[in-house]
Order: sequence, then C-alpha cells, then structure tokens
Amino acid sequence: MADDRPAHYGGEPIRESVLGYGSQSITDHETEAVAEALEGDYITRGPTVDEFETRVADMVGVDHAVATTSGTTALHLAGAAAGFGPGDEVITTPLTFASTAHAATYNDATPVFADIDSHRRTLDPDAVREQITEDTAGIVPMHYAGYPADIEGLLAVADEHDLTVIWDACHAFGGTWHDEPIGAQRDMTMFSFHPVKNITTGEGGMVVTDDDDLAERLRRLRSFDMNYEPEGHDDEPWYQVTEGLGYNYNVTDIQAALGLAQLDRLDEFKQRRDEVVDRYDAAFAAIDGIRTPPEPVDADPMYHLYAIEVRESFGCNRTEFVNAMHAENIGVQVHYVPLHYHPYFQEFGYEPGQFPETEAVYDGLVSLPLHAEMDDGDITDVITAVQRLSTYHQ
Ligand SMILES: Cc1ncc(COP(=O)(O)O)c(C=O)c1O
Repeated sequence: MADDRPAHYGGEPIRESVLGYGSQSITDHETEAVAEALEGDYITRGPTVDEFETRVADMVGVDHAVATTSGTTALHLAGAAAGFGPGDEVITTPLTFASTAHAATYNDATPVFADIDSHRRTLDPDAVREQITEDTAGIVPMHYAGYPADIEGLLAVADEHDLTVIWDACHAFGGTWHDEPIGAQRDMTMFSFHPVKNITTGEGGMVVTDDDDLAERLRRLRSFDMNYEPEGHDDEPWYQVTEGLGYNYNVTDIQAALGLAQLDRLDEFKQRRDEVVDRYDAAFAAIDGIRTPPEPVDADPMYHLYAIEVRESFGCNRTEFVNAMHAENIGVQVHYVPLHYHPYFQEFGYEPGQFPETEAVYDGLVSLPLHAEMDDGDITDVITAVQRLSTYHQ
C-alpha cells in the first residue's frame, strides 16, 4: 500500500529537489542585454539607466523615475526628499520588511506603527488616524503581496492632515488599481528589483513621482547632493560642489540593461504568476483551515507572494506546517515577523501585544512558492503537499 504520509511524519518527500518560494527568471535575452551593456562606454550610471527610468516612468504614467541601488536606498531617498527628519513621526505598517520603516529611521525620524486591516493585510486608515499627532509628517503604506492597500482611504487621511505619502510597492510592480498603474499615486512610490521581486536588476530600486521638486531632490541626493553647474563658475568647467549630505546610490548601466530586458518579459511574468495563483485558489478553497489571499477589489495585482493563513481547523499549527513543507522539499517563508517584535524597533517603545490584527494574521502566515519559473509540475507538487498534510491532520 502506498505510504501517503507527509514526509515530516515518515513518508517520502514529494520532491527530490528544493522548490524555492521565489526566484528570478533569466534567459538569453537578459544575458545578451547585459553583455552588450558591458561593451558600452559607461558601465556606471549612463544612458541605459536613463532609458530604464524613462521606460518605467512611461509604464507607470508619471513624469519621473529615479533608479537607486536597492529598494532600501529608494526608501531612504524618498524619506529624505519628503523632508523627514528629527522630531518627525512617520506612520507605517508593522507587517512589512524592516526597510519600509527605514524611510523614517534612516532620516532620523521616528517610525510609528499603526495596525493593519486583517482582510487586506495592509495599513488600516482608521488605525493611522489614531496615531496622528502634531509631529506626523508622512505615511508609508505597503502593498502587501502585491494587493493594493486601501489607497483611497489612506490618501483621505493624508489629505486631512497634509501628509506626504510614500507607497512601498516593492511587492506590487506591474499591477494596477482602478485601471491606474501602481506607482501613479501621489506623492511617491518606490519599487525593489531584488531577485525575488516581480522583475530584477540583481539589486536595485526606483522611486517614481509626478512632482518635479521631489524628483530633483531625489536625483541630487542619489549622487552626493552635487551641484554640477554651480552659479558663477561658467568659465571653470571642472567646478562642482556638494551642497548637502548626499549619497552614492547610483545604479549601473549593466543593471539597467538587465532591468530593460526584464521589462520586455513583464507580461509573461504576470501571466505565469496569475496562473499559479488561479490554480492555488481553486485547490485551496476546499481545504478547511486555510485562508487564501483576499480577492482583489477594483485591482489587477501583480501577485508577488501567495501568503495563506493556516488556521486552527487545519489541524496543525503554522510551525508544523512550515516544517512539513520543508520536509517535502518545498520552500516556504513567512512574510513577515512584525516589526514591533524586532529588538531594533522595540528601542522606539514597541512590544508584542500592541497590534492585535497584525499579530492574528502573522500567527498563521505562510508564503507558498510563487514565481515565473514554476512549471505545472511544481504547482502540482505544492498543492499535493498541502492536500497531503491536510488529509493527515483531518
Ligand atoms: C516590502 C519591502 N520593502 C522594502 C524592501 C527592501 O528592498 P531591497 O531588498 O531592494 O532593499 C523589500 C525587499 O526586501 C520589501 O519586501
């Protein structure tokens, strides 16, 4: 008789090789583009970076795109361009990667957490309202897993209190909300092009905005806050001066060439991610104790993660679920340990127990594999592993 026990409980693993929860997709198209860039005159920031920025700005439908070395440095620059500084409070979600809050902390502002709406798993506008003080300078919402946050509700709060909004869209590149690309919303949106993200440049990020002044500050801060043509020095072509504390967050033409080649394949990536999500949704709807991701409302998300919540009625807890999937050679991850659990953010006075909605969601969260390199067999393996585990525990 076939042993259908999960590998964690003595059966044979479903897979021999490990399936990662995320992966880049690189073909000859990208390799050739990068090789060509290496033969160009610039291998640091040059015309290919300009082309990459223009292409993303056009795709998103904004006037400016500023490429940076990572999503984290994009957040640093966006916070700096917004003018966040000592004494300012910046409200964000605890259910995110640490860098989201660094839009505040890298600029010596104070990160302030507000609880999430547990359905969308993104910042709850009413919870944001409760955290507003006279020192609040901005909001940094995050489009968790690619599902748009409550954009309308959050912009309303920003309007009421004259706050700058920086959308962390690291998960959401390529999606739309009300037929408008993610990134078109004011004041700034930033993306990450880390290898597990929707497109990659190895490491890389970008800030997009329609605001000319913000774009000018972003560009200056990205490159040493250097004025390359200061007034009164027309006859001294070498004369360039640093006017403030800037950074070297310049991205290279090599990375931009990779980014452009990835953009050529964006539709293909979206289609494959959609197909994986559709198969997961159909398979998991019938499984007791699994909460599938929320149905998008007025949006066509580019799904970055497929994060389920494992509930008590599934029959085992999240830790056992994760370990059982790993025993099947299926890579799963948890996005994220809430920021108020981290020692660094506890220095700002946070502790577990303060954000019940976030904590209730976190307790069950597991991200299943989702990326454009998955073939039909990979999807079947994930579904079979979850079904096997469910059957074992029912
Ligand atoms: C939500 C979110 N914000 C910010 C970042 C930081 O991006 P990067 O890794 O490109 O610095 C990430 C990625 O890790 C992320 O997932």
